[in-house]
Amino acid sequence: MSDSRTIGIIGAGQLGRYLCEAGQALGLRTVIMTDDPSPPAAAFADRVIAGGLEDLAAARALVAACDVVTFEIESVGVPVLEYLAEVEQTGTVAVRPRPGILLTLRNKALQKAWLVAHGLPTAPFVPYADTAALRAALDAGAHPYPWVQKTQVGGYDGRGVHIARGTPDLENLLPGPCLVEAFVPHVAELGVVLARAVDGTLKSYDPVRLHFEASQHILDAAVVPAGLSPELARRAVELAERTVTALDGVGVFALELFLTERDELLVNEISPRVHNSGHLTLESCATSQFAQHLRAVAGLALGDVTLKGPTVMRNLLWRGDTSPAPAVPARLPGSGAHIYWYDKAEGRLWRKMGHVTARGATPVLAAAEAEAGCAAVRDFTAGACW
Ligand SMILES: Nc1ncnc2c1ncn2[C@@H]1O[C@H](COP(=O)(O)OP(=O)(O)OP(=O)(O)O)[C@@H](O)[C@H]1O
Ligand SMILES: [Mg+2]
Repeated sequence: MSDSRTIGIIGAGQLGRYLCEAGQALGLRTVIMTDDPSPPAAAFADRVIAGGLEDLAAARALVAACDVVTFEIESVGVPVLEYLAEVEQTGTVAVRPRPGILLTLRNKALQKAWLVAHGLPTAPFVPYADTAALRAALDAGAHPYPWVQKTQVGGYDGRGVHIARGTPDLENLLPGPCLVEAFVPHVAELGVVLARAVDGTLKSYDPVRLHFEASQHILDAAVVPAGLSPELARRAVELAERTVTALDGVGVFALELFLTERDELLVNEISPRVHNSGHLTLESCATSQFAQHLRAVAGLALGDVTLKGPTVMRNLLWRGDTSPAPAVPARLPGSGAHIYWYDKAEGRLWRKMGHVTARGATPVLAAAEAEAGCAAVRDFTAGACW
């Protein structure tokens, strides 16, 4: 397989940052594209092209500077994705994954329609053009409580999700195009991160168990092993692999799954990129999801994903008012956990500022170590972040 030396990355947040760091270790050059004046990835990229996710001129400059273009975010402007699809057709520069995949997945209604069309299990849903259309359907009794409203585009970290349990929840419906799906009573949420190479080879990390912050629906913790029976773990991986193969995806993909009381697995969400649920691979495996993504899109052989041992990741969320954020070191007294701090200039309520990873002899011990890491960050930031 030939490898491609310069990788262009659309987006430059924390996911881009760890992609760039992985690129350095692999001897690959990275070029990021962003309109953020101080993005987390800037210090780790070889070059920064200024331009937002809708900026066609910046996308052209990125294509001119790279052998392969990839993404750390899916909410890229449609004209930019259409331009990249043309680039991919001409074959001068590889775009991985295919822009057509992002055109489908960036919109949750299109994503779920794709799942249904491919016979992949997901909660039933109805798309709505706007809140007025949704209200009319609700007046006609379309959705018994509880149900979940999701914005079709641009949602992240639970910000585009509204769970309605009764009439008071009708006061704060989300604006714009949306979908409504049945609330899925689940016993667990699982994540499967996997990579698919150019030749279709698949390597999946062990499934992780995901825990969410109850009020915000934002990821709090990821735990591996997930404590599943071997049969269930196999089914989760098989579902994820079937999905990414059906997409003809190249690169790392992350699936969020619901496990129901009857041991059914439903796909909640597909991300065509590295993902928060895969951050613990920085500790848990020889090849992190970031290195694996670059290997896949650069045409290199995929790396080892064998689990080294129980590992826990905790997100560090800002809980205070909007204010300048301090720099938190990678190690703090009182904890053996590894602190990954994204160096965002400003803390805002519920913003992801970093994460903590810890390994342990058992998941419980790893969780205790990670909790000690979060507590050390809380002390260091005078209660603003943990
Ligand atoms: N149909 C549902 N039934 C029950 N809970 C749900 C449902 N849909 C979403 N949730 C809850 O809300 C969380 C966030 O939903 P979802 O993953 O669709 O949104 P998101 O904002 O894109 O999340 P993220 O970007 O953090 O992955 C889910 O992980 C789950 O805890
Ligand atoms: Mg999600």
